[in-house]
Amino acid sequence: MTVKNICCIGAGYVGGPTMAMIAKKCPDIQVNVVDINEQRIDAWNDPNVDQIPIYEPGLAQLVADCRGINLHFSINVNEAIEKADMIFISVNTPTKTYGIGKGMAADLKYIELCARQIASVATTDKIIVEKSTLPVRTAEALKKILHNTSNGVHFEILSNPEFLAEGTAVQDLLNPDRVLIGGDETETGKLAQQELVDIYANWVPKERILTTNVWSSELSKLTANAFLAQRVSSINSLSELCEVTEADVSEVAKAIGADSRIGSKFLNASVGFGGSCFQKDILNLVYISKSYGLNEVADYWEQVIIMNDHQKRRFAKKIVEELFNTVAGKKIALLGWAFKKDTNDTRESAAIYVADYLLNEQANVVVYDPKVTAAQIYSDLDYLGTRSSDDNKKLLQVVSDPMEAISDAHAVAILTEWDEFITIDWDQVQERMLKPAFLFDGRRILDSESMRTKGFEFYQIGRG
Ligand code: NAD
Ligand code: UGA
Repeated sequence: MTVKNICCIGAGYVGGPTMAMIAKKCPDIQVNVVDINEQRIDAWNDPNVDQIPIYEPGLAQLVADCRGINLHFSINVNEAIEKADMIFISVNTPTKTYGIGKGMAADLKYIELCARQIASVATTDKIIVEKSTLPVRTAEALKKILHNTSNGVHFEILSNPEFLAEGTAVQDLLNPDRVLIGGDETETGKLAQQELVDIYANWVPKERILTTNVWSSELSKLTANAFLAQRVSSINSLSELCEVTEADVSEVAKAIGADSRIGSKFLNASVGFGGSCFQKDILNLVYISKSYGLNEVADYWEQVIIMNDHQKRRFAKKIVEELFNTVAGKKIALLGWAFKKDTNDTRESAAIYVADYLLNEQANVVVYDPKVTAAQIYSDLDYLGTRSSDDNKKLLQVVSDPMEAISDAHAVAILTEWDEFITIDWDQVQERMLKPAFLFDGRRILDSESMRTKGFEFYQIGRG
């Protein structure tokens, strides 16, 4: 078989961009991206390509180049399954919120539903690709469901986890450090693996396409995220020590990162990591380790999350302490709500937790983010469930101009490292704020000497 038709179930942050890249690089393959969320599919099909549901630099152009030619977005899941030679499962795998493993394990109900739907619809042999991040050995369950509920159709299961980071998704897809493809070590397993290797080989150098067994591939994805998050928690733990010892965390990061064994990337101290995956994947790793009775392994990784929660809390607490231990009724401007710059994704963003802490202290919080909508911000807060939706709306305001956020504010806190916050007219900000003008830099994007010269009471993560 040479793959001519691909179906991707799940048109989210991974499914959309990944399939757009495959469509762009493989003009001979028809790519159908399907989802049960009709609103999302409508947005992917919006005639104005700038209205697609995910903001990523370069993505709108990529979609514009292929949409309607060999890239299609639809809610007709069954039809796309039936036509496909290869099916990517790219649905969400959030942390379970109920039952066994609540708050820790990955919720695999969406994956299982996909498997059952594929089995009931398929009439020809297919290669099933796990694109979602899954606990190690999920392919075993998938195989059982597919083989026991299908009508004699043969399925090969591959694991092909995605390593793109949001905000740089297009670049990461175009030029990945590696592509990982896990498959069964049987003859048919190897053939299926080769089919997927051939697709990526259209633009990825062969030496960067790694093939492993399925379990190594599944586990490598959780491990990669755990190692990345661990680096952030490590540098964040040191940021607190720097603040009390007058060391500067950026200088420490530079000094240690110069050692090629350590490396310089992913050592930026921050208000805490966010995003849909780091926390979920580490909790999953902890859960899996515990379920095998490996309690020390579980405790080791859990500490990465404990440190991250501490970092978010300590930043919020610092704001309250500096503002004379009371923020009730005080206007506090939060610059940034997305979990990092160049994305409109807010899942697990540190800003949500900082805002929640300040709202508990009855602060009057005003938020500005260049890409996140007010509806999303309120929905994030409502989801936490700390207070009623009406109270969230009463206490927190969302504005579309940063100057409106900072006017007459007691304090400004930077929570996302958007470039526009570096170039904002900080003299004007200082003039418009109430005095003393407190500025809290949770992303280390501002120069501390120059901010102090402008008259700010300036605090920066990781600097005493
Ligand atoms: P997402 O929530 O943005 O998208 C998932 C989509 O799947 C949703 O639109 C949902 O409606 C759809 N869906 C769920 N069940 C379905 C079904 N039965 N049929 C059709 N559609 C269905 O999620 P995401 O951020 O794209 O993440 C998907 C997976 O990729 C997760 O496992 C995640 O851990 C992993 N991942 C995410 C990223 C990232 O940057 N977001 C990076 C690497 C890996
Ligand atoms: C991360 C991984 O980088 C991807 O490889 C992976 O595919 C993805 O998770 C996933 O599985 O979902 P992402 O969460 O999109 O990607 O973004 P990152 O750049 O990793 O940033 C995560 C969080 O860590 C952000 O809040 C960011 O601000 C924070 N961070 C990152 C720091 O605080 N300091 C750093 O030095 C780096």
